[in-house]
Amino acid sequence: MEKTRVAIVGMGTVGTGVARLLLDHGDRLARHAGRILWLEKATVRDLTKDRQIELPSGILTDDLKLVLDDPKIEVVALLVGGLEPARTIMLQILESGKDVVTANKALLAEHGEELFDRARALGRTIAFEASVGGGIPIIANISQCFSANQILSLRGILNGTSNYIISQMDEQGADYATALKNAQALGYAEADPTMDVDGSDAAQKLAILAHLAFGVRVRWREIYRRGLEAFHLADLQYAAELGYRIKLIATAQLRDGGLELHVSPTLIRKGRPLAEVRGAYNAVTVVGDAVGDMFFHGQGAGQMPTASAVVADMIDTASGRTDITFRRLELWSDRESKVELLPYEQTTSRYYMRFFVADEPGVLSQITGILGKHGISIASIIQHEPTSEKHPRQVPLVIMSHEAKEKAATAANEEIRKLSSVGDECVKLRVAEGSK
Ligand code: NAP
Ligand code: HSE
Repeated sequence: MEKTRVAIVGMGTVGTGVARLLLDHGDRLARHAGRILWLEKATVRDLTKDRQIELPSGILTDDLKLVLDDPKIEVVALLVGGLEPARTIMLQILESGKDVVTANKALLAEHGEELFDRARALGRTIAFEASVGGGIPIIANISQCFSANQILSLRGILNGTSNYIISQMDEQGADYATALKNAQALGYAEADPTMDVDGSDAAQKLAILAHLAFGVRVRWREIYRRGLEAFHLADLQYAAELGYRIKLIATAQLRDGGLELHVSPTLIRKGRPLAEVRGAYNAVTVVGDAVGDMFFHGQGAGQMPTASAVVADMIDTASGRTDITFRRLELWSDRESKVELLPYEQTTSRYYMRFFVADEPGVLSQITGILGKHGISIASIIQHEPTSEKHPRQVPLVIMSHEAKEKAATAANEEIRKLSSVGDECVKLRVAEGSK
């Protein structure tokens, strides 16, 4: 059987998983690829670090040139995170005549245009299934299996770390810092987890999916995003009382006025598929005009699920399948955007609002008056007993609104926040309705 020689650049969580699959399951991979995927080199920064894997001698190196200068190596899995040196390394790999497979969504979301242009100009390919949804084959599905459809919407949980943290807080009562530490120890989080928890990682993934699904040319930084800072443990409990869970949801929805794109903590009714996604699992609901709705669910982070997607891309690249899809996709090409972005303040939603208010006559009517002035209709309102011994006269007030404009909800929230009877901690979250 013929051999395709491959290399791994970056032997961290994912790279080590990829090496495991290549070395321990070579026969299986060869059957699926129709050729042997031969691991020639694996590069790291620090040769002294324990990699928790035994590599045959001569494979591990800290010299990238041994990969770049070896014409026999045809496919390289680039599994270094962040922007630099990952961007430079990817360009070097392409220039040296090799195809790339990567899981680095930050790099694609930031420099996709430059990298894809260069790959096209050089007749090379970039495969990136692992960059969104970890082990879930969402890129292949959106770019190939939905091609008879106009995709109407995507809604998903795209960050495993934040979903893991929310689940730990919600189900085990864990505190935020401990839950984050556990997610890091399990290999889910980025080297700097800020982007996991502030919605940026999910926005980068949403930008990639939106490019594929809608042909929109959007920079991930233009996508409105909020993360776990937008709510507190108490909100998980109040939401549960109302029959909802809170999830960090990435949304892309075609509307008459354009494409709505945002990442935000959102209340989802218990029992709906997205509400029941736990731990580091990810999920995406895709609605196509012909196929209707589909639900994808699987491990969105972690060593072996992500390695599964990387190695599948290596097989597709070695067997020539990537070459066909890569050219047809025209991803990050200089073609015009097919759809405009709908400004976030023009989007609509139901809202969950929570305030700490003085337990005094007239306060409720002040608040409902402001909501009414901004055209926001109240669906339900719950005043809880005081929760703080320090402030026995302050009570949590939870309001669920009917559908309203984001602009009106933000303005009302700001106005309510300024009332002397209302504490600083004001929470406003979207509420997703519909079957998913
Ligand atoms: P990681 O554990 O931090 O590993 C990164 C590796 O890159 C380290 O082994 C590091 O080497 C190596 N590296 C850094 N600079 C290098 C250089 N100049 N030359 C050679 N190697 C270099 O990261 P990871 O979790 O595996 O993630 C890798 C990529 O996959 C990231 O883009 C991440 O966003 C993405 N991803 C991760 C997951 C996940 O669950 N972890 C899931 C999907 C996608 P040293 O070890 O010697 O420092
Ligand atoms: N840090 C990312 C997450 C890895 O937690 O989802 C998968 O992209």
